[in-house]
Amino acid sequence: MITLSKNPGPIGVFDSGYGGLTILDGIRRLLPEYDYLYLGDNARAPYGPRSFDVVYEFTRQAVRFLFERGCQLVILGCNTASAKALRSIQQNDLPGWDSERRVLGVIRPTAEIIGSLTKSRHIGVLATEGTIKSESYNLEIKKLHPDVSVTGVACPFWVPLVEYNEADSPGADYFVKKCIDQLIEKDPAIDAVILGCTHYPILLPKIRKFMPTGINIIAQGDYVASSLKDYLQRHGDLEQRCSKGGVTHYLTTENPDTFREHAQIFLNEPIDVENVTLG
Ligand code: DGL
Repeated sequence: MITLSKNPGPIGVFDSGYGGLTILDGIRRLLPEYDYLYLGDNARAPYGPRSFDVVYEFTRQAVRFLFERGCQLVILGCNTASAKALRSIQQNDLPGWDSERRVLGVIRPTAEIIGSLTKSRHIGVLATEGTIKSESYNLEIKKLHPDVSVTGVACPFWVPLVEYNEADSPGADYFVKKCIDQLIEKDPAIDAVILGCTHYPILLPKIRKFMPTGINIIAQGDYVASSLKDYLQRHGDLEQRCSKGGVTHYLTTENPDTFREHAQIFLNEPIDVENVTLG
């Protein structure tokens, strides 16, 4: 059991690294009045190829850390963590830590909206190996829209392309095209594709270039943001415990200077970064 403050605190946004900044960006544009605390576990990223147990343990440590820093609500702004750790944290850990706090993920909001974005009822998911193998999108979408067929393809090179600032390079074309071609070959009837990894919106110009015309490309940031807005409206008590000052603070388990530099790929502003240790 840990002792946690009941005072209002920032909304926590967790990611394995930088990708969650695309989620934070969408949330802050819609809900600028709140304070945010972003945590990137850059020292242990990427999570995509890691096992279920390891992703659960790392994510558990991160959520607990954000709770100890005063967050009453934490968004797992990482598909891999949402796929492999969210359910376990909600069921196994939250009741013992503080049953009034909440942890939400990014898969459910995307699964909710997909029914209204496909006419053919055939959709594709591009994501990390971990997210695809977990079948989380398939399971969530089938619960909400049983008539929708879901086809997934893992894109293991897409995260490194973004992290190494190669998203706009000619070399990226090969890897982006390859995964899109694989997806369309698996199911040519697809008319909507979820970018099921937080890094992928950075590759959007290339994804648009190689995606056949007429296919709806779905980046999650805006949907996660509107789902959070709706959630806060429905949970007034929790909303009251989210502090409102419009301030965002950044934490990383790696070097703060490196984080600041890389974060510029995702954000367009100077940021204040602190190094922290999880464990
Ligand atoms: N942020 C992760 C996701 O959305 C991708 C990066 C990683 O593999 O850690 O799945």
